Amino acid sequence: MRRTVIAGNWKMFKTVDESVELVTALKPLTSNLKPNVDVIVCPPFTSLAIVANLLKGSNVKLGAQNMSEQDEGAYTGEVSWKMLKSAGCEYVILGHSERRQYFGETNELINLKAKKALANGLRPIICVGEKLDEREKGVTEQIISTQIKGVLGGISSDDLKKVIIAYEPVWAIGTGKTASPLQAEEVHQHIRKLVAQLYSWNVAEGLVIQYGGSVKPDNAAELLAQDDIDGALVGGACLKADSFASIISASPSR
Ligand code: PGA
Repeated sequence: MRRTVIAGNWKMFKTVDESVELVTALKPLTSNLKPNVDVIVCPPFTSLAIVANLLKGSNVKLGAQNMSEQDEGAYTGEVSWKMLKSAGCEYVILGHSERRQYFGETNELINLKAKKALANGLRPIICVGEKLDEREKGVTEQIISTQIKGVLGGISSDDLKKVIIAYEPVWAIGTGKTASPLQAEEVHQHIRKLVAQLYSWNVAEGLVIQYGGSVKPDNAAELLAQDDIDGALVGGACLKADSFASIISASPSR
């Protein structure tokens, strides 16, 4: 059975002091996780090392929000896989819609980053999702297929076992509009079928697909109850320990 993975994307929030405060409050609230649930926090780069230190001996894992596709070099402002690993990260979010929209990230670049992460022992959480006009035009499945094929190109079945896909409809991110559990489930099923075609049913059955976009304590249980929704990528509601903890406890015991 697939695990349920709840990840918190802190985005560009929380200074070092605020990060310490949040993670200190979160630790006792996550000391008794259901056995099928994994929890990840993804603070900004500046807080990774200190958060990693605070998380030692806890049930919470650490991820970053982005990573360079290069190993090292004269790339001012970039952060490499080696830096993330040395700061204590196991996961990295790649291709978030904000990276695509504001920083011009393409499926090709996200694919290079994903391959770099996998080759170096970091588990990528790769984001896909359609924009509002695309949903209204009825091309959601086409858009998602193009993104999935693009970001997974050249990734082996073995490596795919370490990948998490996050389906995040762009119109639902930070807007308070959530996809209905049925709308989300339909896209998750589409992704799983596509991965089955590209790889095998076995691989597709094992793939963790998170939903993201205005997940809150009051809608998490219904979303997470869907067969193909295996977790959540949470933005706004992960910035307070108690609301993130209520989302975590809304995970079904499978
Ligand atoms: P949100 O963000 O929960 O604030 O909508 C989700 C995300 O962007 O990962």
